[in-house]
Amino acid sequence: MSQNEEKREAASAALEFIKPGCALGVGTGSTVNYLIDALPAVKDKIQSIVSSSVDSTKRLRSIGFEVSELAEVGHCDLYIDGADEANKHFQLIKGGGGALTREKVIAAASRKFVCIIDQTKMVGVLGAFPLPIEVIPMARSYVAREIIKYRGQPVFREGFMTDNGNQIIDVHNLSITNPIEIESRISLIPGVVTVGLFCHRPADVLLIGAPDGVKCHER
Ligand code: 5RP
Repeated sequence: MSQNEEKREAASAALEFIKPGCALGVGTGSTVNYLIDALPAVKDKIQSIVSSSVDSTKRLRSIGFEVSELAEVGHCDLYIDGADEANKHFQLIKGGGGALTREKVIAAASRKFVCIIDQTKMVGVLGAFPLPIEVIPMARSYVAREIIKYRGQPVFREGFMTDNGNQIIDVHNLSITNPIEIESRISLIPGVVTVGLFCHRPADVLLIGAPDGVKCHER
């Protein structure tokens, strides 16, 4: 099975978690795109949808879904999103697609967070995938200098602006053995909007697409 097929299988397994009357949060990325393509089959169970990015909102609207603002609906029963890395504690690196801030807000405002990934995303230690940090533009070089203290190599994501009008620094070569602490410490650097570690609010369910089927792990 190819990596894309594993993503599609994981996305399709997530449909089971959508119960009648669901206030649904939809994330961003290629795995979530498979989810969005499959959502019409469960449309009658969905009461409202919020999305973590302009891209996902456009995609949802193009197949006839109305997309609400989180500020209007208040909370989600269920949030479904992908990840760049996950560990056995359900902690994640997210933000490869640059939507980390809205993703973190929706994850925090959701009763259940189902993370859909292919098996290549499971790691022992987080950090082989460059850690995305959303920063306000004027703080970019200051934040990069602070990050060097953690022995990571900050790389500015050239030509990219987030949906919030901010920029992204990708931090390479981190070995994140204490992710909860690192999430707290980077979040406190002035100018950081969001760090792409999802550890204070990890996933509740990991659906992992693999050659022999989708594995479901619940926290
Ligand atoms: C976007 C994300 C995505 O969930 C993450 O990058 C995974 O993407 P994909 O499903 O394309 O592998 O965090 O900000």
